[in-house]
Formats: sequence, structure tokens, C-alpha cells
Amino acid sequence: MLTITLMNQKGGAGKSTVARALLSAGDSNGLRCAFIDADQTGNLARWAMRAAEGGLWSDAIDAYQTIDAEEVAEIVDEIATENNIDLLVIDTAGDASRDHDVFAVVADLILCPIMLSRSDIETARGTANFLYRMKDRAEDPSQMPAFRIMLNRVASRPSKGDREIIDALQATKLVGPNENTGLEVMQILGAVLQEREAYKTMDREGLLGHVLARHNETAPGFAKHPKHLTNAITEADKLLAACFAVAGGGHDDR
Ligand SMILES: Nc1ncnc2c1ncn2[C@@H]1O[C@H](COP(=O)(O)OP(=O)(O)OP(=O)(O)O)[C@@H](O)[C@H]1O
Ligand SMILES: [Mg+2]
Repeated sequence: MLTITLMNQKGGAGKSTVARALLSAGDSNGLRCAFIDADQTGNLARWAMRAAEGGLWSDAIDAYQTIDAEEVAEIVDEIATENNIDLLVIDTAGDASRDHDVFAVVADLILCPIMLSRSDIETARGTANFLYRMKDRAEDPSQMPAFRIMLNRVASRPSKGDREIIDALQATKLVGPNENTGLEVMQILGAVLQEREAYKTMDREGLLGHVLARHNETAPGFAKHPKHLTNAITEADKLLAACFAVAGGGHDDR
């Protein structure tokens, strides 16, 4: 089982959107998926309800909702013991409560979605430092999850300014809590999500693969498989593959 926790102390950077994209990709690739909505706003759980009501959901996805850290740990234990889930996605709130320690340690991979702005990089560094300090106090630091910054809402043609920010990000040092811990460079996941209408449709309606299937039911031949949906589906698949590559120790570097 691959457990991915979405985490960023800044709200609105795309945690829930990335969670929806990962679940869409997992489901359409035949993985047995589950999610835990650990954000008090209940954004992801409400999305699942909405999708189910509209018939754009999958029975193969198990849904859990709790903001109680202990309960999250129990659910993860239970799922791991039953051994019937391939992908578990945990969505968290845009803050840094102490519960985030738990949401982090149960994960194999922590994804921190950011948009290309200086202020997003700063908060991503804050999130990374939070985890870095955790690593320092964890009993066995080698058991700590992988951490990757993930670029969200990327323009289809990145501007010069965008590229400069990406370069700056790649060179940004993540400073540990004391001098002995040395420096680490923030690592960026080798897959991105572009700014796309399809992700807003996914948000409104449900799983991407089901949105496409529904569209194809009524569309005339030439209008089936529209690019705006298939491109998003391909991108979400790549995102999921990059996550599996990181957690499996593979190469996700671009
Ligand atoms: N790649 C994208 N393309 C288009 N719209 C996007 C994309 N990513 C996010 N959005 C939109 O931006 C808004 C905020 O995204 P989202 O809810 O995923 O952020 P969040 O990090 O979960 O926020 P919060 O901290 O409030 O939970 C949503 O309306 C979402 O539809
Ligand atoms: Mg959210």
C-alpha cells in the first residue's frame, strides 16, 4: 500500500485538488483506493458525496472522515492489516497542528503542492522544516516518509518568471534545526498539474474517468474523448506514477 499525505501549511495551494486527481488516477488504473479527509472543512468527503449522488463515483474507493489524529492512525493500521487497499490518500488542513505529526508519520510520501510564487515557496519551506525537525526527533529517521514539493496550477507555457522561480526552488536549501543536521535541498516531484478547467469539473462532478465516461455516453463520435479531459487524465496518471516511483525508490527526477 502507498500512503500519500497532502500537506502544506498554506491553504488553497491545491491539496484537495491533488487528492482528487490521485484518487481519479488510482481508480481508473484499477487500484483499490481509500481516502481519509482529515481537514475539518470536510472538503474531500463532501466531494465524494456529491460525486456519488451524481453517479460519478466508484464503489472501489473507501471513504473516511475524521480530524482525530489517533483515529487516523487507527484507520491506517486497520487498512494496512486488512491489506486490501493499494492507494491511501490523506488530505489535511492548511495549518500546522500537532496532529500533523501523525498525518506525516503514517505516510510513505508527503506531497506539498505549491503554486509558482515566492510566498508559496516560503510556506513550503516552513512545511519542509516542520518535517525536518520531526525527522530529527523521530526514533528512527530512516523510517520517515519521503517529502516532495509538487508544482500545481502550472501554466501550459511557463513564463520566464516561472522558470526563474523553479530554478530558485531547486536551489533552495532547507535548513535543519541546528548546525549539526546540515542542509538539505527541497526536492520537487517530477510531475506537475497544470491549471486546467478539467480539475474544476472534477471538483464539481466527480472522478475524472467517470466524468469522461459520462461525456462519451451522449457525445457524438467526433466529440468523444475530448482533449481537455484526456489530457488531465494523462497528467493525473503521470502524477500517480511519479508518487509510486518516489516511494518505491525509483527515479522521478525530470
Ligand atoms: N491545477 C488546477 N487547475 C485548476 N484549478 C485548480 C487547480 N488546483 C486547484 N484549483 C482550484 O483552486 C482552489 C483551491 O484548491 P484546493 O481546494 O485544492 O486547495 P487546498 O490546498 O485543498 O485548500 P485548503 O487549504 O483550503 O484545503 C479550488 O477551487 C480548486 O478547484
Ligand atoms: Mg483542501
